[in-house]
Amino acid sequence: MPEPPETLSGDPTLELPELEAPPEDPLPLLERWLRLAEERRVREPRALALATADAEGRPSSRILLLKQATPFLVFAGSYESRKGRDLAANPRAAGTLYWRETLQQISIEGPVRRLSEAESDALFAERPQAAQATAVASRQGEPLSAPAELRREAAAVAAEAGPLTRPPHWGGYRLDPDLIEFWHGSPDRLHRRLLYVRTGGTWRHRRLQP
Ligand SMILES: Cc1cc2nc3c(=O)[nH]c(=O)nc-3n(C[C@H](O)[C@H](O)[C@H](O)COP(=O)(O)O)c2cc1C
Repeated sequence: MPEPPETLSGDPTLELPELEAPPEDPLPLLERWLRLAEERRVREPRALALATADAEGRPSSRILLLKQATPFLVFAGSYESRKGRDLAANPRAAGTLYWRETLQQISIEGPVRRLSEAESDALFAERPQAAQATAVASRQGEPLSAPAELRREAAAVAAEAGPLTRPPHWGGYRLDPDLIEFWHGSPDRLHRRLLYVRTGGTWRHRRLQP
């Protein structure tokens, strides 16, 4: 019999006193977990699995780069792809960060809106030239009938002199969290969970059974 696939293979021994003595405000904790993940060399700690749903409630999810976590989440992509259309029809999303090396998971939910044009311009300007060129040349999620043509077009855009201008179909979003759950796994499956829910400006927290 082959070995069963590995799950929960990360480090269960992390000191996380905040799970027993939670702070009032989860946002500094979110920032701290991200900083510690980076220090502990977690791979791709900002790979956010983002779930959206269309007007009929049909869900979909994909990985996005979390550009900023607090005081609100920031991510970017096409406004016309599936996630863009979902968020236009149903402006709420749920995101999950999972860090295999440290057995940590953070789940976040909240309303989503577009960033301002100026904020999206700034995000676009930060992107490497090749990523900018792809955003200009590609219509994310549309059928691809001529791959070589798209490649040529992206190369031509990338070769243009001077900074590229953000296309109107690409931009940033902000998700204002009203739910954040911190989770740390344990080999005995007595995982530790800490849930924060925001009503207005007030966060309340409670621990959850695994
Ligand atoms: C590690 C990783 C990071 C990604 N980052 C982004 C991103 O920041 N923005 C984006 O639009 N797509 C990103 N993608 C691609 C998305 O997962 C997805 O394919 C794309 O956004 C189209 O999704 P949609 O058709 O549901 O809108 C990333 C994929 C991976 C695996």
